[in-house]
Amino acid sequence: MSLSLIAQSIGESATLKLNEIASILRAKGDPVIHLGGGEPKGKAPMDAILAASAMLNSGEVRYTPPDGTPALKKAIIRYTDEFYGWRPAPENVMASGGAKQAIMSALHAIINPQEEVIYPAPYWVSYPEMVKLVGGVPVPVHPEDGGFIPRIQDIEQVTGSYTRAVIINSPNNPSGAVYPAEFIADVVDFCERRSLWLIMDDIYHRLIFDGREPVNCYQFTKDRSNNSKLIIINGVSKQYAMTGFRIGWAVGNTKVIEAMTNIQGHETSGPSALLQHAAVGAINGIQSIVKNMRLTLENNRNILMEQLRSFDGVIIDEPGGTFYSFPDFSHYNKDSVALSKFLLEKVQVVTVPGIEFGMEGHLRISYCGSIKDITEGIERMKWALDPNSPNELYIGERKLVRDWT
Ligand SMILES: Cc1ncc(COP(=O)(O)O)c(C=O)c1O
Repeated sequence: MSLSLIAQSIGESATLKLNEIASILRAKGDPVIHLGGGEPKGKAPMDAILAASAMLNSGEVRYTPPDGTPALKKAIIRYTDEFYGWRPAPENVMASGGAKQAIMSALHAIINPQEEVIYPAPYWVSYPEMVKLVGGVPVPVHPEDGGFIPRIQDIEQVTGSYTRAVIINSPNNPSGAVYPAEFIADVVDFCERRSLWLIMDDIYHRLIFDGREPVNCYQFTKDRSNNSKLIIINGVSKQYAMTGFRIGWAVGNTKVIEAMTNIQGHETSGPSALLQHAAVGAINGIQSIVKNMRLTLENNRNILMEQLRSFDGVIIDEPGGTFYSFPDFSHYNKDSVALSKFLLEKVQVVTVPGIEFGMEGHLRISYCGSIKDITEGIERMKWALDPNSPNELYIGERKLVRDWT
């Protein structure tokens, strides 16, 4: 079959694949614990449900403008004003089918074939494939100290004549690291000086712990004109537990938003009218849901960290936000795919191999599920990995016996 070169270069989403494996095993009755998930377990806000139900009941669910409904754009404008201290015009805003589509449309609008897009490792699994989808060249950059916090020098070193854009995701999926304000200031300044596009993927910006405040990249911009190459990405998926609603957005200069809107208009038209309505409900509704989720996640993180500290061979870098952690398990196995497979086969715990995020030896462990799942999942992992564990482990009625050393 003659598939396109681009199609042949795109791999399956490792995280979506794991979701599928977990549900197949569960459907078979296996006691799987999914610590690889990428969505909060809470319910969507009532304000979102009521808004969507009202529209559904009206029976009038039609096309919307390709850049989103005026009501959603208004809500996004208010949101941007509140969190970034800048009130964009409607022409600066495009709503899309999830933050994923907003990033894709942005890349389509700014990247020519063979141009390079830089992003720090560890990185979200989709960035390399998204860059490849638009014919660009992904350039992951590994912080020199092997940690999770990039330095501007790391980015500077890989910047060349083909570099067109930088993507920054903080708080970061998979590490949970919150990049320091100094780094954000540096990267904004660097991209302005070198005339590079800067895509700030802020999808987790309100899910941060320990009393921190989200870092607002706008405060560091010198160029506030319509030539600014800063594009902010956000959405309702994570902060409002609305992953299945598929609403995200981009805020940028009017020319890039117009180009993105033209692209989106031909690819998908505007996002679902119903779900945009739900997003308006969430953004304009009671915000305590975000705070409650944040507190729950922070508590989950603390429990997970305490458990991970009891492993002899795990190196932890405590996450400052998101619902992911990215411990180093290389003491047990340097091959993260093999380790993740081993944990699934032996104790039915799903984790995501670090290599998918550009860092071998690590596993991404999520703490967006229940405390029971977190504690039981980690106990099972410890049993499987610690050579001093007892020979048997009970999962409900099921007895597991170690047949490995
Ligand atoms: C860093 C990052 N950006 C963007 C997205 C996509 O968000 P959405 O579900 O709104 O498309 C995700 C989802 O996992 C993510 O982790």
